[in-house]
Amino acid sequence: MVASQHELASKIGIDVLKKGGNAVDAAIAVGLALAVVYPEAGNIGGGGFMLYRRADGQAFAIDYREMAPGAASRDLFIDGEGKLIKGEGSSTVGYRASGVPGTLAGFDVAFKKHGSGKISWRQLVEPARSLAQNGYVLTKRLADLFVSYKENLAKYPDSNRIFLNSGKYYREGDLFKQPELAQTLARVESHGASEFYTGKTAELIAADMKANNGLITLQDLKNYKAKERQPLRGNYRGYEIITMPPPSSGGIVMLQVLNMLEKYDVRSLGYNSAAKYHLLVEAMRRSFADRAEYMADPDFQTVPVEKLIDKKYANERNATIDQRKASSSKDIGQGAIEIREGMDTTHFTVVDAAGNIVTNTYTINDLYGSRVTAKGTGVLLNDEMDDFAARPGRANMFGLIQGERNKVEPMKRPLSSMTPTIVMRKDGTPWFALGARGGPRIITAVIQSVINVIDHDMDIQAAIDAPRVHHQWYPDELLYEPYGMSPDTLNVLTSYGHTFAARPGQIASATGIMIDTDGTRLGAIDSRSDGEAIGY
Ligand code: GLY
Repeated sequence: MVASQHELASKIGIDVLKKGGNAVDAAIAVGLALAVVYPEAGNIGGGGFMLYRRADGQAFAIDYREMAPGAASRDLFIDGEGKLIKGEGSSTVGYRASGVPGTLAGFDVAFKKHGSGKISWRQLVEPARSLAQNGYVLTKRLADLFVSYKENLAKYPDSNRIFLNSGKYYREGDLFKQPELAQTLARVESHGASEFYTGKTAELIAADMKANNGLITLQDLKNYKAKERQPLRGNYRGYEIITMPPPSSGGIVMLQVLNMLEKYDVRSLGYNSAAKYHLLVEAMRRSFADRAEYMADPDFQTVPVEKLIDKKYANERNATIDQRKASSSKDIGQGAIEIREGMDTTHFTVVDAAGNIVTNTYTINDLYGSRVTAKGTGVLLNDEMDDFAARPGRANMFGLIQGERNKVEPMKRPLSSMTPTIVMRKDGTPWFALGARGGPRIITAVIQSVINVIDHDMDIQAAIDAPRVHHQWYPDELLYEPYGMSPDTLNVLTSYGHTFAARPGQIASATGIMIDTDGTRLGAIDSRSDGEAIGY
């Protein structure tokens, strides 16, 4: 089964499986196809994390997170008055917002080390190339989404021409072709992933960067390496959880929250009770405070992973939770910030017939990344530099506060919230795999989906669809979803001292696959977004 946020990408993954490819082969083909059919987040101009559990029980984590260019430095995004630069030159929009993309390098490592050997690289790239060349019919959602991002997309000539039809815009039902992206994919198909880093594509990206005051050079592209990391392992009520280590914060924060909740009888408290939400939010508040302080690229900073996910440490943190009174984030840390909705990123999961599982989250950060399409490549570039602490101690576009450890440094990877995760049954067989999009809300969405299955006996679709809450330490406010909380529950939580976000808002969007005890694959796409889970 393949579960992704676009039907065409899921179908391409299924075709690979039918031809004898394994979950890794299929995942690569899905990822490349999403770069064409899901351009706001699918990408070859960004980066991400692939978690792979082989049917024999071995697990692997591939870190293909973007890397800061060699010329990047701590105060890159701060002006002469100590203020954050806005617009072009900022960490969120324009040429300087991009880290060196990692997606193709990551897929290359996955293919060479874990592919079935039965499907060629060409066969994996060709479906995406063909979709870019011949086009696909735009849904209303995608046509409207281009227009809603017109303000910044219009500033960059190739983005304006490709995604805004040079100001004429697209409508539902239009055939959307991306010829430059097709040519880039054709080069990558013929010469391999390295073409992106050392060939004509690299030259085009570096030339466009140079012409526009960007920092990524040909040497930066040549230097990029995907890294293999040890997956992070923990457990919740005896169920093993395999997830992503740093430079993602997602796995650590998730295990911290679950460790804290383990002490409570969450099942008896009930799925949407005020008592459960209170404990969940207090655990989130503490774990996100630790995220701000301790987490960063482990190749640049020592991240105390073992201590953070230790159950004894969870007990210490639990001791500061009052079961009837909200704590204040001021007492746990400090900061004053503004927050913006973030619905970036995309997640897909593949389980093949042999039981190999790939669960992959990748991103260009904001929707349409930096909004820059590198001239002549059709490749939309990321704005992942904003996941560094552009101004340590102050909020980024997700409202997340991050410290000096996550400052900008040359060739460093920014801290992420992406949380591809696999949960095992107590007998050691895989139970479900999932992940989400949505910035820091990814972590809280994955946590609550795991709790919904383990504590509240939901299947994967119900677990993913169920209303959820979010708290990230700062801003010190509890976010809930529209229609997601009864007035009675709101009243109880208010009486405990919780402050709510000014308006309810959507909390991420998840995708996953559950494997039933008889082997049946149950695919789940969040009802909050598009996508299709397809089996064969
Ligand atoms: N760009 C969002 C994340 O990696 O958390």
